[in-house]
Amino acid sequence: MGIVGAGPAGLLLAHLLHLEGIDSVIVENRSRQYVTERVRAGVLEQGTVDLMIQSGVGGRLLKEGMRHEGIYLNFQGTRHRIDMAALTGGRAITVYGQNEVVSDLIEARLATGRPLFFEADSVSVHGFDTGAPAIRFQHNQEPHEVRCDFIAGCDGFHGICRGAMPHRSYERIYPYAWLGILAHAAPSCDELVYSLHERGFALFSMRSPGVTRLYLQCAPDEDIDSWPDERIWKELCVRLSTSDGWKPNQGEIFQKGITGMRRFVAEPMRSGRLFLAGDAAHIVPPTGAKGLNLAASDVRNLALALTAFYKSGREQLLDEYSDKSLRRVWKAQRFSWWMTSMLHLSPEGNEFDHRRQLAELDYVTSSRAAMVSLAENYTGLPMD
Ligand code: APR
Ligand code: PHB
Repeated sequence: MGIVGAGPAGLLLAHLLHLEGIDSVIVENRSRQYVTERVRAGVLEQGTVDLMIQSGVGGRLLKEGMRHEGIYLNFQGTRHRIDMAALTGGRAITVYGQNEVVSDLIEARLATGRPLFFEADSVSVHGFDTGAPAIRFQHNQEPHEVRCDFIAGCDGFHGICRGAMPHRSYERIYPYAWLGILAHAAPSCDELVYSLHERGFALFSMRSPGVTRLYLQCAPDEDIDSWPDERIWKELCVRLSTSDGWKPNQGEIFQKGITGMRRFVAEPMRSGRLFLAGDAAHIVPPTGAKGLNLAASDVRNLALALTAFYKSGREQLLDEYSDKSLRRVWKAQRFSWWMTSMLHLSPEGNEFDHRRQLAELDYVTSSRAAMVSLAENYTGLPMD
């Protein structure tokens, strides 16, 4: 198997294949330090956690991951708890940074002794519509060619695999973005708080008992330099504080950045012997915390299909890979769209839209059926 990209998708796929005795080569164009330090999302669904534990890479996740059985929705000065575990028969999410997942998977890969190239240049894919796929790249100024049975395009949204194959895409760039920070501050609440305020969305999250992760809705072209730390804290406190006096603890901000928001789906996720997985095929806005989890469910499907192929020569699961993965992707798109539109102020919106959002929040925090739907989707629909 030739795998392009050492993000969560590429690394987890390589690991699952290794457990089945299937050989792979991973080709990544950035450095090991870059991929392990890149700050991304941090919410793992129950199914993603189970997959990591069952495949033997959940040791540190079990120790350091923070299991959350509920989340809060905050509006009009009140936090409303959604008891996800009670509503779903015990399902929960685990807060564990994506960069920690990537570090654990790189450790596991290196321990197998199987190849993982960092800092590969001029990566290109060939021959996937014939019987002889190949990945070509430069490494330490030397040309390399990996001849393989199949190629997995796990190279993220800006990778090269998707563009190499015919596909149809659906895309929307949202007219707002998230300004995210990491601060040395003990989380002042032990669960996530999603807040809609008349000044915009804000999210309270965390990474560890000493680190709080916080986000603010901002304009997509916002200049980070116009956000000194005091302004960030002031805005976070206005948007998150509740009338019972709750607010985030403050501390030194040690990382900040602005992330644009888009939704995107490429169909199909396969061309011949090239299979796309993760962000290479789809992007969800971060509000539903689904990006990393979709990458995990894609590679689980692909690993099962490849295992069936190598064990018995059956191609049926490979043929079903794209449709099966896309079915879950579209459900996650629906959920992420719903969470996003309920919780953000649109620059095109009006007073009616805001009142409708408040009614939606009122409904979802008071109707058991609506709470079950939120809890079921947030903790993750079962992987079939
Ligand atoms: N050649 C080799 N590697 C490449 C190339 C290329 N031309 N282009 C990109 N890559 C690498 C990137 O450097 C990155 O390490 O592919 C990897 C893709 O990783 P991710 O972007 O993390 O995507 P994925 O593994 O699908 O994980 C999805 O990422 O964006 C988040 O929220 C999303 O959590 C989700 C996760
Ligand atoms: C995060 O902790 O980074 C996080 C949490 C929830 C989200 C998105 C990001 O919906």
